[in-house]
Amino acid sequence: MIRSKVLGTGSFAPEMVLTNHDLEKMVDTDDDWIVERTGIRERRIADKDVASSDLAFEAAKRALKMADMKASHLDLIIVATVTPDMLFPATACILQAKLGARNAIAFDISAACSGFIFALATADNFIKTGAYKNALVVGTETLSKITDWTDRNTCVLFGDGAGAAIIGQSEDGRGIYSTHLHTNGKQGDLLFMPGGGSLHPATLHSIESRMHFIKMRGNETFKIAVRALEDVVNEALKCNGLRASDIDMVVPHQANLRIIQATAKRLGIPMDKVVVTLDRYGNTSAASIPIALDEAVRDGRIGPGKNVILEAFGGGLSWASALIKW
Ligand code: ACO
Repeated sequence: MIRSKVLGTGSFAPEMVLTNHDLEKMVDTDDDWIVERTGIRERRIADKDVASSDLAFEAAKRALKMADMKASHLDLIIVATVTPDMLFPATACILQAKLGARNAIAFDISAACSGFIFALATADNFIKTGAYKNALVVGTETLSKITDWTDRNTCVLFGDGAGAAIIGQSEDGRGIYSTHLHTNGKQGDLLFMPGGGSLHPATLHSIESRMHFIKMRGNETFKIAVRALEDVVNEALKCNGLRASDIDMVVPHQANLRIIQATAKRLGIPMDKVVVTLDRYGNTSAASIPIALDEAVRDGRIGPGKNVILEAFGGGLSWASALIKW
Protein backbone atom coordinates (compact mmCIF):
# COMPACT_ATOMS: atom_id res chain seq x y z
CA MET A 1 0.00 0.00 0.00
CA ILE A 2 1.20 3.50 -0.80
CA ARG A 3 1.55 5.59 2.37
CA SER A 4 1.79 9.37 2.51
CA LYS A 5 4.27 11.37 4.58
CA VAL A 6 5.03 14.97 5.49
CA LEU A 7 7.91 16.24 3.33
CA GLY A 8 8.04 19.79 4.69
CA THR A 9 6.27 22.24 6.97
CA GLY A 10 6.01 26.03 7.11
CA SER A 11 4.16 28.69 9.06
CA PHE A 12 3.59 32.41 9.10
CA ALA A 13 1.97 34.93 11.41
CA PRO A 14 1.41 38.66 10.89
CA GLU A 15 3.82 41.01 12.67
CA MET A 16 1.31 42.98 14.71
CA VAL A 17 1.05 41.70 18.29
CA LEU A 18 -2.07 42.30 20.41
CA THR A 19 -1.31 41.63 24.09
CA ASN A 20 -3.70 40.95 26.96
CA HIS A 21 -2.80 44.41 28.28
CA ASP A 22 -3.93 45.92 24.95
CA LEU A 23 -7.24 44.06 25.37
CA GLU A 24 -7.66 45.52 28.89
CA LYS A 25 -8.12 48.88 27.15
CA MET A 26 -10.75 47.51 24.76
CA VAL A 27 -13.09 45.38 26.94
CA ASP A 28 -13.71 44.67 30.64
CA THR A 29 -11.00 42.02 31.09
CA ASP A 30 -7.54 41.65 32.57
CA ASP A 31 -4.30 39.82 31.89
CA ASP A 32 -4.65 37.59 34.98
CA TRP A 33 -8.10 36.30 33.92
CA ILE A 34 -7.01 35.58 30.37
CA VAL A 35 -3.76 33.82 31.36
CA GLU A 36 -5.40 31.80 34.13
CA ARG A 37 -8.49 30.75 32.15
CA THR A 38 -6.91 30.27 28.71
CA GLY A 39 -3.08 30.36 28.84
CA ILE A 40 -3.06 33.05 26.13
CA ARG A 41 -0.73 36.06 26.56
CA GLU A 42 -0.76 37.60 23.09
CA ARG A 43 -1.98 36.99 19.56
CA ARG A 44 -1.09 38.22 16.06
CA ILE A 45 -3.43 40.41 14.05
CA ALA A 46 -3.36 40.80 10.25
CA ASP A 47 -3.49 44.24 8.62
CA LYS A 48 -6.85 45.31 7.19
CA ASP A 49 -5.80 44.61 3.60
CA VAL A 50 -4.25 41.18 4.36
CA ALA A 51 -6.41 38.14 3.55
CA SER A 52 -6.15 34.51 4.64
CA SER A 53 -4.61 33.57 1.27
CA ASP A 54 -1.75 36.04 1.92
CA LEU A 55 -0.83 34.29 5.17
CA ALA A 56 -1.27 30.90 3.45
CA PHE A 57 1.06 32.00 0.64
CA GLU A 58 3.91 32.78 3.08
CA ALA A 59 3.44 29.53 5.02
CA ALA A 60 3.23 27.50 1.80
CA LYS A 61 6.45 29.00 0.42
CA ARG A 62 8.28 27.98 3.62
CA ALA A 63 6.87 24.43 3.48
CA LEU A 64 7.84 24.08 -0.19
CA LYS A 65 11.35 25.26 0.63
CA MET A 66 11.73 22.68 3.43
CA ALA A 67 10.43 19.96 1.08
CA ASP A 68 12.79 21.24 -1.64
CA MET A 69 9.85 21.27 -4.05
CA LYS A 70 8.67 23.72 -6.71
CA ALA A 71 5.04 24.87 -6.72
CA SER A 72 4.69 23.46 -10.25
CA HIS A 73 5.23 19.95 -8.82
CA LEU A 74 2.10 20.19 -6.65
CA ASP A 75 -0.93 18.36 -8.01
CA LEU A 76 -3.28 19.01 -5.08
CA ILE A 77 -3.88 22.03 -2.83
CA ILE A 78 -6.32 21.86 0.08
CA VAL A 79 -6.95 24.88 2.29
CA ALA A 80 -8.77 24.55 5.61
CA THR A 81 -10.27 27.84 6.77
CA VAL A 82 -13.37 29.45 8.26
CA THR A 83 -12.14 32.85 7.10
CA PRO A 84 -11.86 32.42 3.31
CA ASP A 85 -10.88 35.49 1.29
CA MET A 86 -14.44 35.44 -0.10
CA LEU A 87 -17.29 32.90 -0.44
CA PHE A 88 -15.95 31.90 -3.84
CA PRO A 89 -13.63 31.20 -5.53
CA ALA A 90 -12.02 28.93 -2.97
CA THR A 91 -9.10 30.37 -1.04
CA ALA A 92 -7.15 27.32 -2.27
CA CYS A 93 -7.66 28.53 -5.87
CA ILE A 94 -6.50 32.03 -4.94
CA LEU A 95 -3.45 30.45 -3.30
CA GLN A 96 -2.84 28.31 -6.38
CA ALA A 97 -2.66 31.46 -8.49
CA LYS A 98 -0.33 33.22 -6.04
CA LEU A 99 2.02 30.22 -5.95
CA GLY A 100 1.88 29.62 -9.71
CA ALA A 101 0.96 25.99 -8.98
CA ARG A 102 -0.43 25.51 -12.48
CA ASN A 103 -0.55 21.68 -12.34
CA ALA A 104 -2.59 21.43 -9.15
CA ILE A 105 -6.30 21.20 -8.45
CA ALA A 106 -7.37 23.24 -5.45
CA PHE A 107 -10.32 23.34 -3.05
CA ASP A 108 -11.24 24.41 0.48
CA ILE A 109 -12.42 22.44 3.48
CA SER A 110 -14.56 23.92 6.27
CA ALA A 111 -14.17 22.06 9.56
CA ALA A 112 -13.27 24.98 11.84
CA CYS A 113 -10.47 24.14 14.29
CA SER A 114 -10.35 20.53 13.07
CA GLY A 115 -9.90 21.74 9.49
CA PHE A 116 -6.20 21.00 9.15
CA ILE A 117 -6.62 17.34 10.14
CA PHE A 118 -9.67 16.98 7.87
CA ALA A 119 -7.58 18.43 5.00
CA LEU A 120 -4.61 16.22 5.87
CA ALA A 121 -6.85 13.13 5.88
CA THR A 122 -8.25 14.10 2.48
CA ALA A 123 -4.77 14.56 0.99
CA ASP A 124 -3.62 11.30 2.62
CA ASN A 125 -6.47 9.38 1.01
CA PHE A 126 -5.89 10.91 -2.43
CA ILE A 127 -2.20 10.00 -2.20
CA LYS A 128 -2.89 6.49 -0.93
CA THR A 129 -5.15 5.79 -3.92
CA GLY A 130 -2.44 7.05 -6.26
CA ALA A 131 -4.71 9.81 -7.62
CA TYR A 132 -2.23 12.57 -6.66
CA LYS A 133 1.43 12.58 -5.66
CA ASN A 134 2.32 15.91 -4.09
CA ALA A 135 -0.17 17.81 -1.95
CA LEU A 136 -0.04 21.14 -0.18
CA VAL A 137 -2.26 21.20 2.91
CA VAL A 138 -2.80 24.57 4.57
CA GLY A 139 -4.66 25.85 7.60
CA THR A 140 -5.04 29.63 7.41
CA GLU A 141 -7.17 32.08 9.34
CA THR A 142 -7.74 35.79 9.78
CA LEU A 143 -10.13 35.32 12.71
CA SER A 144 -9.58 38.95 13.74
CA LYS A 145 -11.93 39.85 10.86
CA ILE A 146 -14.84 37.86 12.33
CA THR A 147 -14.11 38.57 16.00
CA ASP A 148 -16.54 40.79 17.90
CA TRP A 149 -14.09 43.16 19.58
CA THR A 150 -16.82 44.26 22.00
CA ASP A 151 -17.47 40.70 23.34
CA ARG A 152 -15.01 39.83 26.11
CA ASN A 153 -16.19 36.20 26.09
CA THR A 154 -14.65 35.59 22.65
CA CYS A 155 -12.35 38.47 21.63
CA VAL A 156 -9.57 37.46 24.02
CA LEU A 157 -9.31 34.00 22.45
CA PHE A 158 -8.57 34.33 18.75
CA GLY A 159 -5.64 35.27 16.52
CA ASP A 160 -4.42 35.17 12.92
CA GLY A 161 -1.85 32.93 11.23
CA ALA A 162 -1.20 30.11 8.78
CA GLY A 163 0.58 26.79 8.71
CA ALA A 164 1.28 24.43 5.82
CA ALA A 165 2.56 20.95 5.10
CA ILE A 166 3.71 19.27 1.90
CA ILE A 167 2.46 15.70 1.71
CA GLY A 168 4.00 13.19 -0.69
CA GLN A 169 4.42 9.46 -1.19
CA SER A 170 6.42 7.59 1.43
CA GLU A 171 9.00 5.10 0.28
CA ASP A 172 10.27 4.00 3.68
CA GLY A 173 7.13 2.83 5.52
CA ARG A 174 7.00 5.94 7.68
CA GLY A 175 4.28 8.55 7.36
CA ILE A 176 0.61 9.00 8.17
CA TYR A 177 -0.51 5.78 9.92
CA SER A 178 -4.11 6.77 10.59
CA THR A 179 -6.61 9.61 10.57
CA HIS A 180 -9.89 9.61 12.50
CA LEU A 181 -12.55 12.25 11.82
CA HIS A 182 -15.84 12.94 13.59
CA THR A 183 -18.66 15.48 13.43
CA ASN A 184 -21.90 16.11 15.33
CA GLY A 185 -24.05 18.66 13.49
CA LYS A 186 -26.66 18.63 16.27
CA GLN A 187 -24.29 20.67 18.44
CA GLY A 188 -23.37 23.15 15.71
CA ASP A 189 -24.99 26.02 17.59
CA LEU A 190 -22.34 25.92 20.33
CA LEU A 191 -19.86 27.61 18.04
CA PHE A 192 -20.81 29.36 14.81
CA MET A 193 -21.03 32.53 12.75
CA PRO A 194 -24.62 33.07 11.59
CA GLY A 195 -24.17 35.85 9.03
CA GLY A 196 -22.76 36.02 5.52
CA GLY A 197 -24.11 32.76 4.09
CA SER A 198 -27.36 31.95 2.26
CA LEU A 199 -29.42 31.84 5.47
CA HIS A 200 -28.50 35.32 6.63
CA PRO A 201 -26.80 37.17 3.77
CA ALA A 202 -25.32 40.56 4.59
CA THR A 203 -28.09 43.10 5.19
CA LEU A 204 -28.35 46.18 7.34
CA HIS A 205 -30.22 43.99 9.86
CA SER A 206 -27.54 41.25 9.88
CA ILE A 207 -24.84 43.83 10.47
CA GLU A 208 -26.76 45.67 13.19
CA SER A 209 -27.49 42.30 14.88
CA ARG A 210 -23.74 41.50 14.87
CA MET A 211 -24.35 38.29 12.90
CA HIS A 212 -21.00 38.47 11.12
CA PHE A 213 -19.01 37.59 14.23
CA ILE A 214 -18.07 34.32 16.00
CA LYS A 215 -20.61 33.19 18.60
CA MET A 216 -19.51 30.59 21.16
CA ARG A 217 -20.94 28.96 24.27
CA GLY A 218 -17.43 28.44 25.64
CA ASN A 219 -18.09 26.61 28.86
CA GLU A 220 -20.28 23.91 27.26
CA THR A 221 -17.81 23.56 24.37
CA PHE A 222 -14.96 23.12 26.85
CA LYS A 223 -16.48 20.08 28.55
CA ILE A 224 -17.35 18.32 25.30
CA ALA A 225 -13.88 19.07 23.88
CA VAL A 226 -11.88 17.34 26.62
CA ARG A 227 -13.90 14.12 26.38
CA ALA A 228 -13.90 14.07 22.56
CA LEU A 229 -10.15 14.68 22.34
CA GLU A 230 -9.37 11.89 24.78
CA ASP A 231 -11.62 9.52 22.80
CA VAL A 232 -10.19 10.38 19.39
CA VAL A 233 -6.58 9.97 20.57
CA ASN A 234 -7.43 6.61 22.17
CA GLU A 235 -9.10 5.61 18.91
CA ALA A 236 -5.85 6.33 17.03
CA LEU A 237 -3.73 4.47 19.60
CA LYS A 238 -5.99 1.41 19.47
CA CYS A 239 -6.07 1.40 15.68
CA ASN A 240 -2.25 1.35 15.58
CA GLY A 241 -1.69 -1.03 18.50
CA LEU A 242 0.11 1.69 20.47
CA ARG A 243 -0.03 2.92 24.06
CA ALA A 244 0.04 6.53 25.22
CA SER A 245 3.62 5.95 26.38
CA ASP A 246 4.61 5.19 22.74
CA ILE A 247 3.74 8.78 21.72
CA ASP A 248 6.80 11.05 21.46
CA MET A 249 5.01 14.33 20.73
CA VAL A 250 1.41 15.58 20.82
CA VAL A 251 0.42 18.52 18.61
CA PRO A 252 -2.98 19.65 19.88
CA HIS A 253 -5.30 22.33 18.58
CA GLN A 254 -4.49 25.44 20.60
CA ALA A 255 -7.85 26.62 22.00
CA ASN A 256 -7.24 26.66 25.73
CA LEU A 257 -4.26 25.53 27.84
CA ARG A 258 -6.66 23.96 30.35
CA ILE A 259 -8.18 21.78 27.58
CA ILE A 260 -4.69 20.78 26.41
CA GLN A 261 -3.56 19.94 29.97
CA ALA A 262 -6.75 18.09 30.92
CA THR A 263 -6.58 15.96 27.77
CA ALA A 264 -2.90 15.14 28.31
CA LYS A 265 -3.61 14.21 31.95
CA ARG A 266 -6.50 11.91 31.03
CA LEU A 267 -4.28 10.20 28.45
CA GLY A 268 -1.33 9.97 30.87
CA ILE A 269 0.96 11.97 28.59
CA PRO A 270 3.36 14.41 30.32
CA MET A 271 3.19 18.07 29.25
CA ASP A 272 6.84 18.06 28.08
CA LYS A 273 5.63 15.90 25.18
CA VAL A 274 2.93 18.43 24.21
CA VAL A 275 3.58 21.35 21.85
CA VAL A 276 2.09 24.61 23.18
CA THR A 277 2.05 27.83 21.14
CA LEU A 278 -1.22 29.43 22.23
CA ASP A 279 0.54 31.72 24.74
CA ARG A 280 1.94 33.58 21.70
CA TYR A 281 -0.72 33.05 19.02
CA GLY A 282 -4.03 32.40 20.78
CA ASN A 283 -6.55 30.19 19.01
CA THR A 284 -5.87 30.40 15.26
CA SER A 285 -8.49 27.71 14.42
CA ALA A 286 -7.38 25.64 11.40
CA ALA A 287 -3.91 27.22 11.51
CA SER A 288 -3.08 26.28 15.08
CA ILE A 289 -1.94 22.68 14.51
CA PRO A 290 0.27 23.33 11.47
CA ILE A 291 1.85 26.37 13.21
CA ALA A 292 2.66 24.23 16.28
CA LEU A 293 3.80 21.34 14.09
CA ASP A 294 6.16 23.58 12.12
CA GLU A 295 7.62 25.02 15.31
CA ALA A 296 8.33 21.56 16.76
CA VAL A 297 9.80 20.29 13.46
CA ARG A 298 12.12 23.30 13.18
CA ASP A 299 13.33 23.17 16.80
CA GLY A 300 13.97 19.39 16.54
CA ARG A 301 11.30 18.13 18.97
CA ILE A 302 9.78 16.28 16.01
CA GLY A 303 12.17 14.31 13.83
CA PRO A 304 12.64 11.01 12.00
CA GLY A 305 11.15 7.96 13.70
CA LYS A 306 9.10 9.89 16.27
CA ASN A 307 5.47 8.94 16.88
CA VAL A 308 3.48 12.16 16.58
CA ILE A 309 -0.24 12.59 17.24
CA LEU A 310 -2.26 15.57 16.04
CA GLU A 311 -5.59 16.19 17.83
CA ALA A 312 -8.25 18.83 17.21
CA PHE A 313 -11.71 19.91 18.31
CA GLY A 314 -13.83 22.72 16.92
CA GLY A 315 -16.98 24.07 15.32
CA GLY A 316 -19.32 21.67 13.58
CA LEU A 317 -18.91 20.22 16.09
CA SER A 318 -15.91 18.43 14.67
CA TRP A 319 -13.02 16.53 16.18
CA ALA A 320 -10.15 14.52 14.73
CA SER A 321 -6.75 12.92 15.18
CA ALA A 322 -3.86 11.90 12.93
CA LEU A 323 -1.08 9.53 13.94
CA ILE A 324 2.18 10.03 12.08
CA LYS A 325 5.42 8.05 12.23
CA TRP A 326 7.77 10.91 11.31
N1 ACO B 1 -12.34 38.61 31.09
C1 ACO B 1 -12.88 38.56 32.31
N2 ACO B 1 -13.97 37.82 32.61
C2 ACO B 1 -14.51 37.07 31.61
C3 ACO B 1 -13.98 37.08 30.31
C4 ACO B 1 -12.85 37.89 30.06
N3 ACO B 1 -12.28 37.96 28.85
N4 ACO B 1 -14.72 36.25 29.56
C5 ACO B 1 -15.67 35.73 30.33
N5 ACO B 1 -15.55 36.22 31.58
C6 ACO B 1 -16.39 35.93 32.74
C7 ACO B 1 -17.76 35.47 32.35
O1 ACO B 1 -18.59 36.57 32.06
C8 ACO B 1 -18.19 34.73 33.59
O2 ACO B 1 -18.61 35.68 34.56
P1 ACO B 1 -19.95 35.42 35.41
O3 ACO B 1 -19.67 34.17 36.22
O4 ACO B 1 -20.04 36.66 36.22
O5 ACO B 1 -21.03 35.24 34.40
C9 ACO B 1 -16.89 34.10 34.10
O6 ACO B 1 -15.84 34.85 33.48
C10 ACO B 1 -16.75 32.63 33.75
O7 ACO B 1 -17.10 32.43 32.39
P2 ACO B 1 -17.00 31.03 31.72
O8 ACO B 1 -17.46 31.12 30.30
O9 ACO B 1 -17.66 30.00 32.59
O10 ACO B 1 -15.40 30.80 31.77
P3 ACO B 1 -14.57 29.53 31.39
O11 ACO B 1 -13.72 29.17 32.51
O12 ACO B 1 -15.43 28.45 30.76
O13 ACO B 1 -13.61 30.10 30.24
C11 ACO B 1 -13.42 30.01 27.84
C12 ACO B 1 -14.16 30.60 29.03
C13 ACO B 1 -12.00 30.49 27.92
C14 ACO B 1 -14.09 30.51 26.58
C15 ACO B 1 -13.46 28.47 27.91
O14 ACO B 1 -14.76 28.04 28.19
C16 ACO B 1 -13.00 27.78 26.64
O15 ACO B 1 -11.85 27.83 26.28
N6 ACO B 1 -13.92 27.05 25.98
C17 ACO B 1 -13.61 26.15 24.85
C18 ACO B 1 -13.26 26.86 23.61
C19 ACO B 1 -13.03 25.85 22.51
O16 ACO B 1 -12.39 24.84 22.68
N7 ACO B 1 -13.62 26.08 21.34
C20 ACO B 1 -13.48 25.13 20.27
C21 ACO B 1 -12.43 25.49 19.37
S1 ACO B 1 -12.63 27.11 18.67
C22 ACO B 1 -13.15 26.94 16.98
O17 ACO B 1 -13.54 25.91 16.51
C23 ACO B 1 -13.15 28.22 16.18
